Amino acid sequence: MSALAGIQPKTIDGDRGAMDPKQVASAIRPEDIHFPETGLISLENTHNKAGGTVVPLENMKAIKKVANQYKIPVHLDGARIFNAAVAMNEPVHKIAEQVDTVQFCLSKGLGAPVGSILAGPKEFIERARKWRKRLGGGLRQAGMIAAPGIIALNEMPNRLQEDHNHAKRLAEGLGNIDGIEIESEVETNMVLVSVENLGLTSEQFIEKLEKAGIKSGSYGTHSVRLVTNYDVSKEDIETVISKVNQLFK
Ligand SMILES: Cc1ncc(COP(=O)(O)O)c(C=O)c1O
Repeated sequence: MSALAGIQPKTIDGDRGAMDPKQVASAIRPEDIHFPETGLISLENTHNKAGGTVVPLENMKAIKKVANQYKIPVHLDGARIFNAAVAMNEPVHKIAEQVDTVQFCLSKGLGAPVGSILAGPKEFIERARKWRKRLGGGLRQAGMIAAPGIIALNEMPNRLQEDHNHAKRLAEGLGNIDGIEIESEVETNMVLVSVENLGLTSEQFIEKLEKAGIKSGSYGTHSVRLVTNYDVSKEDIETVISKVNQLFK
């Protein structure tokens, strides 16, 4: 952030990814020549590090109210906004309309091989296009890679509930294995587990799974993230549960 945009973040602890609007208000810097100005409030939904959690609309609304008082725009990192919409059982625009600008990924849950979209007011997008070019992100003849993005947008949101069901089943199965703790209630397509009670670091656990053909990622010394997606079937979930059972029984 500082290298590319000359800005510095001020982070706030969240509750399952949701920031307290009062804390947001007190993090806004007052007018003072000694301080940098607060130029943006940035939210994330679903929240990745909290475990794919859904930030409630009410929380987003309350933060937008604070932002309006101080005339600060709100951006949403909505890399997984469609997962949030499905989990909330709301149309995706209900989430997007709480903020000024939103980014979302066509890859990840929506399954396109590549691509993200930035949405916002016309003038903002014009500036963003210039910045994209300036940072080397411009593409020519991008239609080829945009085509799967259209499928991602039109067809994939309708099947995300399947991923969420798979993640719930995975958490249930892994949670029954001695030594594996589910860290965060599953709301979307992510399962965060602690492997501390197995006496393993996350890297050691991941290596054992990798050898059994299961991909996972480290989320801390003893935390591991498993994610479901279009390429993971109901049968795959059962295979993962039974393989992990065999590894640690
Ligand atoms: C929450 C979140 N936001 C943003 C991104 C990045 O998106 P992009 O690569 O399109 O900038 C990711 C992952 O890549 C992510 O998990």
